[in-house]
Amino acid sequence: MTKGWQKTDWRAKQRIQMPDYPDQAALNAVEAQLSKYPPLVFAGEAQRLKQELALAGEGRAFLLQGGDCAESFAEFSADNIRDTFRVMLQMAVVLTYGAKVPVVKVGRMAGQFAKPRSAPTEVIGGVEYPSYRGDIINGFDATVEARRPDPNRMLQAYTQAAASLNLLRAFSSGGFADIHRVHAWTLGFAEHDKAERYRELSNRISDALDFMTAAGVNPDTAHTLKVVDFYTSHEALLLEYEEALCRVDSISGKNVAGSGHMIWIGDRTRQPDGAHVEFCRGVLNPIGLKCGPTTTAEDLKVLMNKLNPTNEPGRLTLIARFGAGKVGDHLPRLIQTVQAEGANVVWSCDPMHGNTIKSSTGYKTRPFDSVLREVREFFSIHKAEGTVPGGVHFEMTGKDVTECTGGLRAVTDEDLSDRYHTACDPRLNATQSLELAFLVAEELLARREDGRRIAM
Ligand code: PEP
Ligand code: CO
Repeated sequence: MTKGWQKTDWRAKQRIQMPDYPDQAALNAVEAQLSKYPPLVFAGEAQRLKQELALAGEGRAFLLQGGDCAESFAEFSADNIRDTFRVMLQMAVVLTYGAKVPVVKVGRMAGQFAKPRSAPTEVIGGVEYPSYRGDIINGFDATVEARRPDPNRMLQAYTQAAASLNLLRAFSSGGFADIHRVHAWTLGFAEHDKAERYRELSNRISDALDFMTAAGVNPDTAHTLKVVDFYTSHEALLLEYEEALCRVDSISGKNVAGSGHMIWIGDRTRQPDGAHVEFCRGVLNPIGLKCGPTTTAEDLKVLMNKLNPTNEPGRLTLIARFGAGKVGDHLPRLIQTVQAEGANVVWSCDPMHGNTIKSSTGYKTRPFDSVLREVREFFSIHKAEGTVPGGVHFEMTGKDVTECTGGLRAVTDEDLSDRYHTACDPRLNATQSLELAFLVAEELLARREDGRRIAM
């Protein structure tokens, strides 16, 4: 892709948000081993995702990206993967109805292990420890031993990612994703006593499906109603792992990150001359770039040129994460920069990371209302600018956790301690995720109806 680029070039850049491994020999051995393992994804799949994202950039598809803040070794189970996958499919049905375009489904799964931290150490019970950086790097327990970075964790992360992807591939094609089945689950949600405002939309979806069945379109005759494309993504933070799984595609001769279909650059590691940008610019995968309140127009220009010098549609997704009430201060200037450059991007909204607060009971949480408000601000600014809101990016799980407050079942500050299982940031639970999908679908429908009025 990028002439003269080597997958090791990032090593000459400043090393930030990555651990200093105490045992260099052990690190070398792990890297050598991982380099021989098969890639988890293939170039053709990453290219296909890029084509689908290109459509999202034009409003002819819509991106739904979601999953754990951090996958963990302890929470790894078939049930957890199934539940998150199921909720994403349900959300996708609802969003498809709202957007009237295909929904591109991308999990924060099968590789989302490494976490950037705001400080290198944290104080727990009055004792200072190195920060937890995700299971691929060190352990969550508050002991000096657990917090020591261990390169062998990369091998376990690889194994877990491979097994997760294997299950996701089976679910995608094995009948689990049959649209009627998925819709029946969604209907269960709309029957919730407080969900009357979602019932109408749900009934409209049922009518559409009934109509298709009556017209002879059903999962037995229409393969596409039974099989879904599901892609994986994660933050490309731990570059030793990324480098070891980077491969040259035998067909195109280009480099591909074999660790996941899409990788993204976090808000803390997007320095234009930094190691993470250096690595990502050289691989052919679709790349996400988090844009926060400190993203300047100048940096964005440089980053777009570095990450997508040929202005290839679908290559770059800008993931806006400003915080409710702040989108208007930042998004318009960045949209204008993109427009002035004539750059092809997909605009996606991450309403999670700018809305993290500490609850009165001491837990890190996110109020559902702030999440929703940020999504609405994102849509209304795109409407005002005449640009395309191409997708959403959520931290969510299919489990009934109590990590974010609010929503239909009104999780309170006091409830947070009941089922607070995240290894990092608070996630939307299954009900909150689906509720959010309904609300985003309403925004999308309103946008379409406005568009139609303008066209008439
Ligand atoms: C994340 O997506 O988990 C994350 C750390 O996001 P950001 O880089 O936007 O803070
Ligand atoms: Co997070």
